[in-house]
Amino acid sequence: MTVRNPMLAIEIDRKKALPIYQQICERFRTAIAAGHLRPGDRVPPLRGLATQLNTARGTVELAYTILVDEGYLQMRGAAGTFVSPSLSAAQMQAVAAGGRDDAADVLTTDLVGGEKAPYASPSHATARQRPIAAALSGEPRPLQPGLPALDAFPRKLWSRIVSRRARGGGQAMLAYPDPVGYLPLREHIATYLGLSRGVTCLPNQVFITGGYRATLELVLRSLASPGDRMWFEDPGYLLARNFLAETGVQLVPVPVDAEGIDVERGIEREPAARFALVTPSHQSPLGNTLSLARRMALLTWAEAASRWIIEDDYDSEFRYLGRPLPALKSLDRHDRVLYCGTFSKVMFPGLRLAYTVVPERAIERVERVACSMNTGAPTLFQAALADFIEQGHFARHVKRMRTLYGQRRLLIAHALKQAFGERLTVKLPPGGIQFAVQFAEAADGPVDDVAVATRARQAGLAVLPLSNWYAHGRMRDTPRGLVMGFANITDTTEADRLVRTLRSCLDG
Ligand SMILES: Cc1ncc(COP(=O)(O)O)c(C=O)c1O
Repeated sequence: MTVRNPMLAIEIDRKKALPIYQQICERFRTAIAAGHLRPGDRVPPLRGLATQLNTARGTVELAYTILVDEGYLQMRGAAGTFVSPSLSAAQMQAVAAGGRDDAADVLTTDLVGGEKAPYASPSHATARQRPIAAALSGEPRPLQPGLPALDAFPRKLWSRIVSRRARGGGQAMLAYPDPVGYLPLREHIATYLGLSRGVTCLPNQVFITGGYRATLELVLRSLASPGDRMWFEDPGYLLARNFLAETGVQLVPVPVDAEGIDVERGIEREPAARFALVTPSHQSPLGNTLSLARRMALLTWAEAASRWIIEDDYDSEFRYLGRPLPALKSLDRHDRVLYCGTFSKVMFPGLRLAYTVVPERAIERVERVACSMNTGAPTLFQAALADFIEQGHFARHVKRMRTLYGQRRLLIAHALKQAFGERLTVKLPPGGIQFAVQFAEAADGPVDDVAVATRARQAGLAVLPLSNWYAHGRMRDTPRGLVMGFANITDTTEADRLVRTLRSCLDG
């Protein structure tokens, strides 16, 4: 086989603010998009290119590593580095037609239903987000990730509390809500976080929002400038990624391993990021816990240059082995962490109530933005929730659900092991209400998890393909699997039935 070794004129501009390694990445992406480099072409060796550009070998190496991670290049040891042969003709056409953003599209993921969910230009992101948002809204479906046990929520009790407030709660229940949140609820949250998450805060640091993405919007409008870079876990929460792509922050994917986000890799990739968004208690979607060493490294990184860490603590109340771990925020001596919680898991997601605890130095800015947005959540539900907490129902409900989910996770794990055997790696989830399982590679290559999830959706199940949670999903090495919820599985019979349906979707 002859290998094309085209002459590639790479130029860098030292006056540009863009770091040299990123300029090199851009040059390669553009050359591939324009067809000057084609799948299988050999690219210049590290040392040669470093000499040509009069830059350090490490700079070129970093650029190549990123391009390999993104799926543009493939390293083959002594044979050299090549443009990835797995860039198909269709992908190349799309790359050539669309330039950088479209290149990112084809190199990333198909959503269930065939649309794509990559880091995207804002105009594309909305259209892509619809199928996944739709898949997770409306009538709940079996195995839907992130859904708490709707059958076990005390609806009668809740409706009594809400109607009591609606009837006798005063005119404030019907008027415009306080944009920063209903004070008694802010007070309850501050107390709750102190007791259960080790987070010490005052009620005026707590801002109530209409859900996690509303929290992110509030935080970014308050603290971010256009073009700010943000470390984002890879894999990471799909819906946040799609939303953030719309906001103008530049997401920098940082790999996750058994200890959570790899802080060293983050520093290598983008030391000057202004934000890091992390899920320390229960990494979404892999479920790992951020190790203490990494927690300290992350805090040190943030403290050194006034960076912000956004801690998404979405489901930490549910831990089945030992007590829930304290939040990262509890170690935050220099007040660099914005803590985010939600009532979607501990109550129900239709409630649309979440919150953030902001450092004291940020209160004024966040307050100003919250008031200008004036998107406060309905006072009626905030007041009902405050009553629910005050009367002790909240603590009881969480305790009951922890026991229930601990049992339901066993049902699903057992049924999956029975039905899939060696074809699926199933680890018992240590916490949360959803988990990721991974397919073993089939004889003819990696399992097409997007196709499996699409078939599952047609069969009435709401599982999501794991590869979609990766920044550049569906590369040769991207783990393939499914993300699924287990909180609504009521018994063994149901678990077996659902898993049998899922198994029938595996081979088409
Ligand atoms: C990782 C993660 N963060 C946050 C949330 C909470 O989002 P929301 O408050 O919009 O329900 C979820 C919900 O599934 C989630 O999976």
